[in-house]
Amino acid sequence: MNMSELNAGILILDYGSQYTLLIARRIRELGVYCEIWPCNDARVKDFLANSETPARGIILSGGPSSVAIAGAPSLDGGLLDMGLPVLGICYGMQLISYALGADVRPGAVGEYGRTTISVDRSEGLFYGFEADSDLNVWMSHGDSVQSPPVGFEVLASTENGVLAAIGDAQRAIYGLQFHPEVSHSEHGERLLANFVFHVCKCQDDWNMSDFLERSITQIQRQIGDDGRVICGLSGGVDSAVVAAILHRAIGDRLTCVLVDNALLRQGEVERVRTVFEEHFGVDLRVVDARERFLAQLAGVTDPETKRKRIGETFIRVFEEVALEVDDAKFLAQGTLYPDVIESISVLGPSATIKSHHNVGGLPDDLDFELVEPLRELFKDEVRVLGRTLGLPVDMVDRHPFPGPGLALRILGEVTAERIEVVRAADHIFIDALRRENLYHSVWQAFAVLLPVKTVGVMGDQRTYEDVIALRAVTSQDGMTADRAHLSMDFLGRVSDRIINSVKGVNRVVYDVTSKPPATIEWE
Ligand code: XMP
Repeated sequence: MNMSELNAGILILDYGSQYTLLIARRIRELGVYCEIWPCNDARVKDFLANSETPARGIILSGGPSSVAIAGAPSLDGGLLDMGLPVLGICYGMQLISYALGADVRPGAVGEYGRTTISVDRSEGLFYGFEADSDLNVWMSHGDSVQSPPVGFEVLASTENGVLAAIGDAQRAIYGLQFHPEVSHSEHGERLLANFVFHVCKCQDDWNMSDFLERSITQIQRQIGDDGRVICGLSGGVDSAVVAAILHRAIGDRLTCVLVDNALLRQGEVERVRTVFEEHFGVDLRVVDARERFLAQLAGVTDPETKRKRIGETFIRVFEEVALEVDDAKFLAQGTLYPDVIESISVLGPSATIKSHHNVGGLPDDLDFELVEPLRELFKDEVRVLGRTLGLPVDMVDRHPFPGPGLALRILGEVTAERIEVVRAADHIFIDALRRENLYHSVWQAFAVLLPVKTVGVMGDQRTYEDVIALRAVTSQDGMTADRAHLSMDFLGRVSDRIINSVKGVNRVVYDVTSKPPATIEWE
């Protein structure tokens, strides 16, 4: 993001918490612009001191470290003297306290999970809360602040006597030992709203159109005046939105590539052609790489090896196309925040770590510079962006589909025949969901081909054939998910259709696991 855009927003410094992006998400949901910068970004102080339009406030995220340990990510105490409101969350609160001379150390008790705190104040950060009321919040800390720094008051504490919230209203510096950004924290959103609106005086004037404008400017800056970009389309929402943004940003210097890797859903090539070639007028190349992918997957059963092989083959195909496209140096991908965070918090102290699973593992010798305009967005935000860009509704509201495609849904070896089985079963399931108006009631639904055969009886004959598992989940952002409560009658109808029309399948089961402990995909 462009730093100068922060004039009306919040700067979040990331200390490595798995929840940092959730802070950003909550702030954006409030209609306030924010950016996440790594806590060790050397530009921070200079930007805040010298920019004519610095942020309205700073949030210090949580993090896994202990403030007093040598080498732990630290806080430049000068940031607290800049006259800007600061909110420290968990490790952030400990950093503020430590920087101001308070004692921070492992407490007699650590607190993890739901904790009840008692609110002592009803102003500032706790504006609108009742004094002496209780709140259930989400804690995750071993260290704690032993007593508030000079000038700070205790705003809330836990039943164990741990300081849960402290503040210096005069300097507008606050600390919360718990995580208001996590949905398990009661009224966490209200606390963040109090910080951004009451304390920082932000306006709720940020929206996806603004994000889009900023994103376009940033892409134009990254690509320069004559750079060319290759964008892989998978038929999924994310790559479609990436392509549409890039088309806006750089017009015909974008070439979209749809790699037919044999692992796409039914009718995908035609669908993508209709939207991108006919509707948007994008330069679209469809590469038939079916044989090549199948050859790479022959004999492979290990899920990680599948992902790697697929990722690598994708990149090789893109490289070949790039040579035909005036030497394109950039590769755009629809990496989302959940892809990023499930590897590690990349934006914080570990900023150099690039490992995520969007295209199934990028090879080390990648020759492209990546363009990833969605890497800080959640899926539902991408959908809003897609609508803002004018993409057809049924493309924007489609269920997510993974980059490695149907390969993740074929347990065991991926062969042309097994792809046909899972593709046909998947089509029947999705078609039934659409026909019975259930498609939009689930986040994602698909069929999985299991690597076992079971005994059945069809037309008085004993059969020994494949099993299809149906998976349907509800979710907000794919990071957690629940089984979808589809009726037995509906599932029965889908099962009948699959068994009657997909050759080689004699049993259908329904996966009722949530995420966690399972993941949404089976591989
Ligand atoms: P899991 O299986 O990790 O999936 O619970 C969460 C969401 O991410 C999708 N997914 C992927 N998407 N490349 C992608 O582009 C991948 O390698 C990949 N793996 C999972 C999955 O479909 C679900 O929506």
